[in-house]
Amino acid sequence: MELPLGKCLSGVDHAGSMTQVTAFAPGRVEILGNHTDYNGGVVLSAALQLGITATGRRLEDGEIRLSSSGVCHEGKIQRAAGLKKTGAWIDYPLGVAEMLALSGGEAGGFEACYESTLPAGAGLSSSAALEVATAVLLTRLYPFEISRMDLAKLCRRAENEFVGVNCGLLDQASSVFGKKDHLVYLDCRSESVDAVPFPPHLALLIINSGVKHALTGGEYNERREQCFEAARCMGVPALRDASSAQLEAAEMPELAKRRARHVVGENERVLLAIDALRSGRAEALGPLMSASHRSSVENFENSTPELDLLVSLATAQVGCLGARLTGGGFGGAIVALVEIGAAESVRVAVETSYAAQTTHKATGILCRAEDGALPAED
Ligand code: GLA
Repeated sequence: MELPLGKCLSGVDHAGSMTQVTAFAPGRVEILGNHTDYNGGVVLSAALQLGITATGRRLEDGEIRLSSSGVCHEGKIQRAAGLKKTGAWIDYPLGVAEMLALSGGEAGGFEACYESTLPAGAGLSSSAALEVATAVLLTRLYPFEISRMDLAKLCRRAENEFVGVNCGLLDQASSVFGKKDHLVYLDCRSESVDAVPFPPHLALLIINSGVKHALTGGEYNERREQCFEAARCMGVPALRDASSAQLEAAEMPELAKRRARHVVGENERVLLAIDALRSGRAEALGPLMSASHRSSVENFENSTPELDLLVSLATAQVGCLGARLTGGGFGGAIVALVEIGAAESVRVAVETSYAAQTTHKATGILCRAEDGALPAED
């Protein structure tokens, strides 16, 4: 879900209040491993330079006050009365506060003001950035021990159980574990993360299609169910446990098989990409990303005509090594692997041709792999 966050105008600086603290959590770009996270699989992503900053302070009366763009959420929420879903963006921070309470790490009242630099509707995980920024803010306001992975999982739980979106761990883990000049390699089965160096001569160009992405639609849950059905048909706990050969030999409905083919192929492509990155062949990610997009089109059907057009425009440019849709799909953005010297000309060429061929405006963002909300100390 995308959030109507902008520049925080009012701040929360109240005379006489205790010291303010801030927490920044980045958005993320998924590079390979589409829809693998909730199938126990592997994903390759990067934390972005764009994200959400939460500025806040403790409120000793137990209330929660949340604001963004200078607009306060009307009415103060008394947590004694129990936190209830509102249908608005504040559900993300409220969900984090609630999950924290349920997991025994209850924080008291707090005031938080949010500023976002993430483009709305691009599928770059503003919701996870909002959750992670809130969770980190709360650990600073009410210090308690929580591991980085437990914090990411608490944020996912807020989204699953409070907001009601059945996402996997990718977005929250990328926002927490990002590392400057590295990609995040997440294994969702072992819930472990590794940082893989990303070479300086390559860059990630994100191009927003201008067509909104929203995971509130039923497509995401429908795809999840189809993946689970395919795993059941093969008698494996999750699609992570199936090879392509096993899948092709299995009896199951044709649609479930195509969905599973995407996920099983994505897991394989992530492992090939990790191998390539570790052996100095990072360019090999390009064709893997393009193969991922073809599989989205043919098997998972989570692309759109606009995303397909952006991928074909990008991959036709000199210096673009490959491109694919990023994140849930059904709108949002693509990510292209480009040679850094060609990034600007690829961006301008794609934006210009897209404007000539559609009624939408494409916006390119050259992305750096950045530190997450809680980078490892090394
Ligand atoms: C969305 C979800 C993630 C993941 C991706 C697809 O971003 O929030 O958990 O499933 O889609 O890979």
